[in-house]
Amino acid sequence: MFLKNAWYVAAWDDEVTRELKPITVLGEDVVLYRTGDGKVVALENACPHRKLPLSMGRIKGDQVECGYHGLTFDTTGTCTRVPGAERIPHVACVRSYPTEERYGMVWIWMGDAARADPDEIFKVEHWGDPEWGVNRGESMTLECNYLYMTDNLLDPSHVAWVHQTSFGTASCEETPLETTVNPDGVTVSRWMLDSEPAPFYAPFLKFSGNCDRKQHYEVRYPCHAIIKAIFEPSGTGGDERPYHEDVFLMDSYNFMTPVNDRETKYYWFQMRNFAPGDEEVSRKFGASVRAAFEEDRVVLNAVQKGMDAMRTPNLDLKIDAGPLRFRRQLDRMIAAEGQTLAAAE
Ligand SMILES: [Fe+2]
Repeated sequence: MFLKNAWYVAAWDDEVTRELKPITVLGEDVVLYRTGDGKVVALENACPHRKLPLSMGRIKGDQVECGYHGLTFDTTGTCTRVPGAERIPHVACVRSYPTEERYGMVWIWMGDAARADPDEIFKVEHWGDPEWGVNRGESMTLECNYLYMTDNLLDPSHVAWVHQTSFGTASCEETPLETTVNPDGVTVSRWMLDSEPAPFYAPFLKFSGNCDRKQHYEVRYPCHAIIKAIFEPSGTGGDERPYHEDVFLMDSYNFMTPVNDRETKYYWFQMRNFAPGDEEVSRKFGASVRAAFEEDRVVLNAVQKGMDAMRTPNLDLKIDAGPLRFRRQLDRMIAAEGQTLAAAE
């Protein structure tokens, strides 16, 4: 089940061009392209006549011509031409979806178009700040339900086992977690004081020796996350204090787009409070993050298979408190949306 009235990432901005690009979001087939002046168009990817994907047709000016019998649709999905017909049947239209470009990504609104408000798109705190560097890579396809990924992103403890060579250290095993329920999602966090820096971060720290490390894992509805990593010299960390001058900050943005129940597109980028223009640092960050996320992919794909095949009940633990609260609230939001739709019909 999916929340329809929400923004999802449809593609990186440079993936949407003057070619027709088929995508699937929440089980709905959509075709993306750009008009001559660069505006993104998102239409239902099925001609009303015989349902051939419009992505198998061609762009004509700012319109799309079906590759079967030439039915043509404008950017709003209205049919403008039916070759050989005396008049255009009023049902000859396709759905169009609101889109918005932000943070180098194309966002799509899958619900009631009248409710699409670009101000509701996830806020990226330091975007455009010249002091902060950014790295981004390709997207990734996960063969699992998107909620296994939201579970993962509300679970700072998994790094101790899944990411031993990158994000994890021994202190990631035992330090207790604090769960906060916010109006727009759930946050799980903890300070790990006087701990060894994890291998991924160590080369980038401006100080040596042990550190005070904070993990802040926050997932917002429906399935977007910010993971904040804070490293300060041992003895200087804590929420009540200003940052130490050598503080390392990394904000990792994670956006999941459900393709369907069993497949998820995963988009991410990281922002850091140092080396803003340094391509080499961005490249290293990008490669290390990708390698770590591949470790998540292997685990989550196998979790999906395991859960599908389970013959004894699944066990929840104390560490699942955050993920379960997130799932329950999202379930309520999806149910409420279903009731609204039913009342409108
Ligand atoms: Fe992970």
